[in-house]
Amino acid sequence: MSHSPVARAIPSSSLHEIFRAADVREQSTGTPVIRLHVGEPYFTPPPEVADAIAEAQRAGRTSYTDVEGLPELRRALAAKLELENGIETPISRIFVTPGSCQGLQALLFSMAEPGTEILLPDLHWPIHVQQSLIAGLRPVFYGLDEHYFPDLDSIAEVSGPASRILLVNSPANPTGAVLDAERLQGLLDLARERGWQVISDEAYEHFVYEGNHLSLAARERDLPAEQRIVHSVFTFSKSLAMTGYRLGYVVTANDAAASGIRVVQEAGIIAPPTPVQYGGIAALQMTGTAEVNRKLVQQNRDAVLPALRDAGLLRELPAGGWYAMLDVSKAGLSAEDFAARLLEERGVAVVAGSGFGLRPQLDKHGGLTAMETDPNAGKLVRIAFCVDPKVLQSGVDALLEFGRDRNAW
Ligand SMILES: Cc1ncc(COP(=O)(O)O)c(C=O)c1O
Repeated sequence: MSHSPVARAIPSSSLHEIFRAADVREQSTGTPVIRLHVGEPYFTPPPEVADAIAEAQRAGRTSYTDVEGLPELRRALAAKLELENGIETPISRIFVTPGSCQGLQALLFSMAEPGTEILLPDLHWPIHVQQSLIAGLRPVFYGLDEHYFPDLDSIAEVSGPASRILLVNSPANPTGAVLDAERLQGLLDLARERGWQVISDEAYEHFVYEGNHLSLAARERDLPAEQRIVHSVFTFSKSLAMTGYRLGYVVTANDAAASGIRVVQEAGIIAPPTPVQYGGIAALQMTGTAEVNRKLVQQNRDAVLPALRDAGLLRELPAGGWYAMLDVSKAGLSAEDFAARLLEERGVAVVAGSGFGLRPQLDKHGGLTAMETDPNAGKLVRIAFCVDPKVLQSGVDALLEFGRDRNAW
């Protein structure tokens, strides 16, 4: 048996590839690339956040906090979770994390029994796959229906005795699907029946344009904590545009799960950054901001995306999130070639869908032998519609024109 470090075998995500390609083009042509590949919003964090961080630093509030984070911040988070998400939790089960990405990874480390399976959606955020592999889990992929909703029959079919964790992401990156109460309950019932744990990634909780955001964990609030199975992940990055501050949080279902992640956090970060946590307290007081930001992204969606639907690239406008998956198969190019040529010829960066349909191939020891991709994902490209409206409009116009010039639509 040959051993090689798992992390070294995992290719970096297609998001990184296009980042690099966009930078290279910008440097070689001297003209700015129209960046529809990045989930970076055009609105900025509330200035009160920067003030609170500066004040914490000046006042010398810069030493380590508890591994879970500042009690004051976690108390404010518990109140938010109760009010907005219907999640009832003591602060001992809340962990402040440097971004929800690190929270997700810590959760996976704390839950992973090496060699067991995690169930991920067919179209997924590639980081979920990378994290699962690094944690020693075997990713297994479940089908989505034509609206990108998880297909319960497919989940039942692809899962088996080694399955342990079901990952749910609503609103979803990259598809924009938002799960209603019935669909969430169906997933929860299946997970309970099979004895799985559930991770609910709610990074885009405040970006729902049709219906409401519903937190999966709220559906088990009447159960005693030791019977709960849903662990939830949230972030300040999206709702308050605080992407670079790196601030998120995890709510574990019960005390046993909390004691697992506590060890992972102690080993991995000791504690989240202290001044940024004071920024988080200030951010939670800015109660109207997430709603203002939601409206900004919805305006973009409503103004620009219908043209893509009318051209047949989009079945329906995304109900949530920051992204849309466009079917560009009529252009007669693979998604990679489409993305490469759109960048080269029109200066517009989008992400090839294949990067969201990863299919890692593992040997029986969990070693990665190949990173394949789902052929269906190779017809899609992802655009971010959280960007400046003028940039979005010009990028979508250029993309449509690129296809029209090829008589694709
Ligand atoms: C689905 C999903 N979850 C989590 C994250 C992580 O965000 P952050 O680490 O900034 O909280 C992202 C960021 O793009 C995401 O798309």
